[in-house]
Amino acid sequence: MPITFNKQNMTFTINTENTTYQMAVVEYGLLTHLYYGQRVKNGTDLTYLLNRYAAARASTYNEIPYEEFEKGAARLCPQARFQEYSTFGIGDRRTPCLIGRFANGGGTIDLRYHSHKIIHSKPALMGLPSVYANENEKAHTLIIKMKDKAEKLFVELYYSIIDGHDMIMRSQKIINKTGKPFFINSALSFNLDIRRSDLDLISLYGKSNNERYMDRAPLKHGKFSTDSTAGATSNFSSPAFMVCEHNADEEHGECYGAVLMYSGNFVASAELDYNDRVRLTMGINPTTFNWKLKNNEEFTTPEVILGYTDKGIGQLSRNYHDIIRYNVCRGKWKKEQRPVLTNNWEATVFEFNTDKLVEIAKDAKAFGVDMLVVDDGWFGHRDWDNTSLGDWYVDKKKLPGGMEDLCKRINDLDMKLGLWFEPEMISEDSDLYRAHPDWAIKVPNRAPMRSRWQYVLDITRQEVRDYIIDMISKVIGCCPIAYIKWDMNRNITDAYSLNLKADEQGEFYHRYVLGVYDMFEQIIERFPNLLIESCCGGGGRFDAGIMYYSPQIWTSDNTDPIHRLKIQYGTSLFYPISTMGAHVAYAPNINTYHNATVLQRGVVAMAGTFGYELDPMHETEESMAQMLKMTQLYKKHYFTINHGDYYRVLSPYDQQTVITRIDAWQFVSKDKKSALLSIVQMDNVNDPNEIFIKLKGLDPNKNYKLFAYSDGLENTRPFKSIIKEEELGVFSGEVLMKAGLHYSLIRGDNRTSLIEIDEVE
Ligand code: GLA
Repeated sequence: MPITFNKQNMTFTINTENTTYQMAVVEYGLLTHLYYGQRVKNGTDLTYLLNRYAAARASTYNEIPYEEFEKGAARLCPQARFQEYSTFGIGDRRTPCLIGRFANGGGTIDLRYHSHKIIHSKPALMGLPSVYANENEKAHTLIIKMKDKAEKLFVELYYSIIDGHDMIMRSQKIINKTGKPFFINSALSFNLDIRRSDLDLISLYGKSNNERYMDRAPLKHGKFSTDSTAGATSNFSSPAFMVCEHNADEEHGECYGAVLMYSGNFVASAELDYNDRVRLTMGINPTTFNWKLKNNEEFTTPEVILGYTDKGIGQLSRNYHDIIRYNVCRGKWKKEQRPVLTNNWEATVFEFNTDKLVEIAKDAKAFGVDMLVVDDGWFGHRDWDNTSLGDWYVDKKKLPGGMEDLCKRINDLDMKLGLWFEPEMISEDSDLYRAHPDWAIKVPNRAPMRSRWQYVLDITRQEVRDYIIDMISKVIGCCPIAYIKWDMNRNITDAYSLNLKADEQGEFYHRYVLGVYDMFEQIIERFPNLLIESCCGGGGRFDAGIMYYSPQIWTSDNTDPIHRLKIQYGTSLFYPISTMGAHVAYAPNINTYHNATVLQRGVVAMAGTFGYELDPMHETEESMAQMLKMTQLYKKHYFTINHGDYYRVLSPYDQQTVITRIDAWQFVSKDKKSALLSIVQMDNVNDPNEIFIKLKGLDPNKNYKLFAYSDGLENTRPFKSIIKEEELGVFSGEVLMKAGLHYSLIRGDNRTSLIEIDEVE
């Protein structure tokens, strides 16, 4: 059995294929963490790992008699113990999971083991996204119920596993039976105490247009934390990190990961204490959270997906990719091939009409595009970004025949139509605001902050959510709309709801996130076949929570392929390729003016959902032909890219040669019969040179035929960019992985190659 309880030594053991997690109920009902790491044999007793020492003068449980304390029971004290679920008020000075106050104002929470059960399923979380088991998969859940020593406050700790995944899903239910309210100040989703100090932290940071850059640094004594107070996950930080051994790399070393399924204000921390132990935590950000839990009510924390491997960072990423794409993403589009889209945002911004859109679609069809997405500007009188959010009806000046006419003309081209919405927002200049000014959030007697000239709707209110969803549904339902882009373009300030009492206002941010999830769920229920791409001022709400509702997310407003390399590399540490919105945009790029070849733009967009974002009118016949080639290559390799294994081969963060940095990555089909290698030189090269790139994930016993598409720049005036196609020969998987593939660094700006690798008998 993957989850067991041993009555003799009171241990709970959770085994996945390659990992073991063990905890024990020790004296006085204290729940203590023992181990999380490589799989050990069934029945192994790890209680010898219980810590033996406590720091002098650490606070001690009152029921421990002096003699026992002297004999060593001091090791049980909250500060010394490896805690399974730490609470505040009893002397554990590391970051606790639970901080709260009882009705008498006291903030001491002392949880003891009450009971437990093991079930053979994976419960969903009320109102929150969570990992689920597919029909053919077995799931198991351990629920340990803890009770406060003095009051009837219970916490149920959930640990779920799904056969075939080396992951543990944790969340908690806080249950108030005290007869009075209990005020939760902080309810993080887990703490994990690790008995070693030689660890690096890998975390993500960024900003608008440069989201999810990777940071890696050794943990130092003290606490590192990263968080969001933006109301959404944010462009600045990510609710996902890893800690790994100092020398861990893509293939080797022990690594722990945590990915939170939450799309709002979060905090993630890694702390190295003075006893040289590490505590990891992650959950809802307490800075913007206060929850009044009434008697007989429950509060459920978001789910965290914990992972461990001794096989390096790459393996941990692949484990996350698999669980997220198959057990978090839902609906038709998790398996089915998604349409290649072209989005009109960078092509037209707000200036378009039906004829222009149809022209873009028609031209894009010539290079294999399946769907036109009409971005911002089709509704109200939205000619700029300061108006009309909330007025989700067609601007007849731009689309005189309405959405039906546009949709028909696009469908007549045998293409699908997609639409942009920003459902959570309201413009001051809108009919919606004129009718319901109180729906925009603001604190009474204060003028709210504007951002992008818009306000945030109070979607903590059911009537607001329902109204918006009805309005949006009317548009989606009026003709066959196949896709929506769900945007969210500002941070939340002035958090306040007229529906909440003064002592409940601290609930706003979390209720907002629950409101977002409810709106998504309503749309999915009404339109189960709709493909939803979420977006947030670029990639500001890119997390495993939102992936439960939308299987693809716009990764960043930065469409420059060279900039995208670091963004997509960082994102790939946790999130699968199939979730990363990526488009071939103009060259020169509208923001950076970088002049990338079609191949380079295509290859980088292929490490994502692949689409276009340009007006074909400005393209030459030559580049249109190259775009068609890219679309065909993407479609040909769709399943290897989206359902194969992803390997980071060379990092855009490293300088591998004197002259240029090189990014390289690989997709390998699960049966290892075919693979795709992408290589991008990040700088100009003057003198030719060569490197040997060691491939990954192939079968050493198979022979593979290699075929390359490479940038060939001809030194003519003006420069001519051609895609050179050549057979590279047949090599064994063994030599490609051990000796490496010869790769010429030849002259040119950011030369790019795409290499097909196919098994030969
Ligand atoms: C955000 C998105 C863009 C685009 C604009 C439209 O910035 O990230 O892709 O949709 O909004 O206003």
